[in-house]
Amino acid sequence: MWGGRFAGGPSEIMAAINASIGFDRRLHAQDIRGSRAHLDMLEAAGIVSAPDAAAIRGGLDRVEQEIAAGRFVFKPELEDIHMNIEARLAELVGPVAGRLHTARSRNDQVATDFRLWVRDEIDALDAALADAQAAFIEKAEAWPDLPMPGFTHLQNGQPVAFGHHMLAYVEMLGRDRGRFADARRRLNESPLGAAALAGTPFPIDRGMTASALGFDRPAANSMDAVSDRDFALEFLAAGAMTALHLSRFAEEVVLWTSAQFRFVRLTDAFTTGSSIMPQKRNPDAAELVRAKPGRLLGAFTALATVLKGLPLTYGKDMQEDKEPTFEAADSLMLAIAATAGMVRDMEPDPERLREAAEAGHPTATDLADWLVRRLGMPFREAHRAVGALVAEADRRGVPLPQLPLDAMQAVGAGIDKSVYDVLSVERSIAARTSYGGTAPENVRRAAAAARERFL
Ligand code: ARG
Repeated sequence: MWGGRFAGGPSEIMAAINASIGFDRRLHAQDIRGSRAHLDMLEAAGIVSAPDAAAIRGGLDRVEQEIAAGRFVFKPELEDIHMNIEARLAELVGPVAGRLHTARSRNDQVATDFRLWVRDEIDALDAALADAQAAFIEKAEAWPDLPMPGFTHLQNGQPVAFGHHMLAYVEMLGRDRGRFADARRRLNESPLGAAALAGTPFPIDRGMTASALGFDRPAANSMDAVSDRDFALEFLAAGAMTALHLSRFAEEVVLWTSAQFRFVRLTDAFTTGSSIMPQKRNPDAAELVRAKPGRLLGAFTALATVLKGLPLTYGKDMQEDKEPTFEAADSLMLAIAATAGMVRDMEPDPERLREAAEAGHPTATDLADWLVRRLGMPFREAHRAVGALVAEADRRGVPLPQLPLDAMQAVGAGIDKSVYDVLSVERSIAARTSYGGTAPENVRRAAAAARERFL
């Protein structure tokens, strides 16, 4: 493989630790893409003759067909995807295949392939995230005014519209897409032509290969080009944050589907049963989405640790970049799909949500606001007064809206029966018309705006 220098083969253990074909075969499409761009450029620059280029091109086509048909034999003794394709090319077209590797090294080749792969994955994840956003927007449009409890500290805070809660996730996923898009912009420089580390004496045109591969420009420094894996780290960081967001929703699904909450129901499509307890319906998909951040954060940590303290330029350590990244991307893709699936599958229980929304005097703030606006009380004083009324309601065992007027007037002589108008959860929600607030008219408008911004 390495020409004249090596006579004996590697030990079995050396071969086992060295080979990456088991996982980097996943880069085959990007490797062939990169080789085609490099070949076209070598021909245009007069480095490879037209007939030789045509022969190699034909060989690459055949390799591609063999892989697509599942006929390509990946050989561990050929180490990685680059050597496997090159070796097969030589079998197919003869020694002329060797001209393809002119002015190129596996170092710039793998950096190029991996960048292309991460870029493809970013594009696929972006589409998947947009679909998950669409699912949340659809649910918001279906339930723009259904009251549910809004929590702080997982205690009833103020009632909100179910649709408003759904749209919170649309914003989170929107930022996630923004982080992937930012990472993609910085990623989009071509390492190809950096060769081993120092560049090449051949008159190559790096701008030509860069644009053929959809990169914005060639990477400026050949040493940085072969040793940079920031793009994968940024990808994993953005992915980890996305997974965290998905896990927060997943946890809400776990809570909401429990007997204690009963806020929503999932169908058989997104639940499983128990092998011993016949009554059970478990939210396994949600639990698995809740668990995925470990993998994403683990992958980030693994790659960051590989790169920490690594001297320039390429080190074989860097071969360890791919497995965690592949695995993290697969996990994330599945978690996003499961989230979109659960959102579409989930049916809220309106009676139960309203009942929950009314528990725990959730319109106490509305009462305090009323005292401020109608009686001119300073808010702090109103807060204290309402606190006393809540205590009184609890003593009598009634919700705040059922506290009699004379009891109300104990904290403010000017209180009249119009106060009861603000104490229903519907009124509380409808009143919150400030920008970004939960009023149903806002939710409808925000859902429409989200379609414009994100879909
Ligand atoms: N399989 C290697 C990797 O994934 C390709 C680059 C090998 N380069 C080298 N100089 N040995 O990193």
